[in-house]
Amino acid sequence: MQPIYLDYNATTPVDPAVAEAMQPFITSHHGNPSSAHAYGRATKDAVEAARRQVADLLGCAADEVVFTGGGSESNNTVLKGVAHTYRQRGNHLITSQVEHPATINPCRFLEQQGLQVTYLPVDRTGMVDPEDVRRAITPRTILVSVMHANNEVGTLQPIAEISRIARASGVLVHTDAAQSVGKIPTLVDELGVDFLSVAGHKVYAPKGIGALYVRSGTALEPLIHGAGHEFGRRAGTENVIFDVALGKACEVAKADLPRYQRQVRQLRDHFQEELAKRFGDRVVVNGHPEQRLPNTLHVNFRGVIGAELLEKLPEIAASTGSACHEGEIALSSVLTAMQVPPELGMGAVRFSLGRYTTPEEIERTVAWIERVYEGDRERATGVAEQQGR
Ligand SMILES: Cc1ncc(COP(=O)(O)O)c(C=O)c1O
Repeated sequence: MQPIYLDYNATTPVDPAVAEAMQPFITSHHGNPSSAHAYGRATKDAVEAARRQVADLLGCAADEVVFTGGGSESNNTVLKGVAHTYRQRGNHLITSQVEHPATINPCRFLEQQGLQVTYLPVDRTGMVDPEDVRRAITPRTILVSVMHANNEVGTLQPIAEISRIARASGVLVHTDAAQSVGKIPTLVDELGVDFLSVAGHKVYAPKGIGALYVRSGTALEPLIHGAGHEFGRRAGTENVIFDVALGKACEVAKADLPRYQRQVRQLRDHFQEELAKRFGDRVVVNGHPEQRLPNTLHVNFRGVIGAELLEKLPEIAASTGSACHEGEIALSSVLTAMQVPPELGMGAVRFSLGRYTTPEEIERTVAWIERVYEGDRERATGVAEQQGR
């Protein structure tokens, strides 16, 4: 039997409707979209239809959507592109301490090139205070880049408020929406952003495809120079098969969003309640209680190491929030920024549910956890008793 998959924030399977949409472009339509003949027109039309599908999900115009190779490329394009394009205006970027490495590491690279980066702290729920953004802005600030939803704990950032503050000072705003697109409404005008990153493999499209929203009229030097593909914003012959896949994935996500949010939240809340019922305060939930992705349950199991607990649970595929290096437990940078105490955070496990998670899988998961976690506790208590403690 396959393990129960509860790692949808890591990646999602390809939706069958997406696989079906890709098929004709694998087997039948091979034209280069730049070719003027019928072969080219067929694939060009498909790419443009896919672009409209992505735009519909984000609430923007089709010509504001650039296909990329994924979330990392979208983030790199914005961070490096803004740093270069607006270098006369300033050299200061603002981001947060809980960003994905696909933001943190381009920022570190830019620091090596002489730019200044402010990494804003978060509160204990993982949230940035918009007032901290206001305080961090200087006349040399050119970009604020804060993620929409955190990949580990699921906390949602107050992007609309952050945008209002930044744009009032003439500062551009980017949000990494890799984790929110398809899970909660992610509309560029509601968020008020100039740039937004999408990662296809978090929204039931294949790995290696993504998109970048660039607000109409915003200058941005491309990361990849070449011919004039993607409105001159990203060179390279279009990845027709994967563009079509991302388009279909966005169409499905948009149609499914109300049902998805309701269903996945119900399951996640039920899961959380079952853990609370069985383990009380031995299980502590991380992240914001309400402002959180509906599919994410990130918890600390007191008294155990998350990675070891998961090792004993091969029936469940989930992620841990701590790593063990040479006997030392290191908390993730996100948990560290949230000031989770190490003795608690070492037991961190992220469960992320998705479109195909069933109530029965959650029941089985709770039962497996109970067996293994209770077993661990009994063994730990037994050892303590033997040692006369
Ligand atoms: C928040 C966030 N940003 C960016 C990425 C990177 O996306 P990709 O794997 O498509 O490069 C991920 C995926 O792990 C993510 O969770």
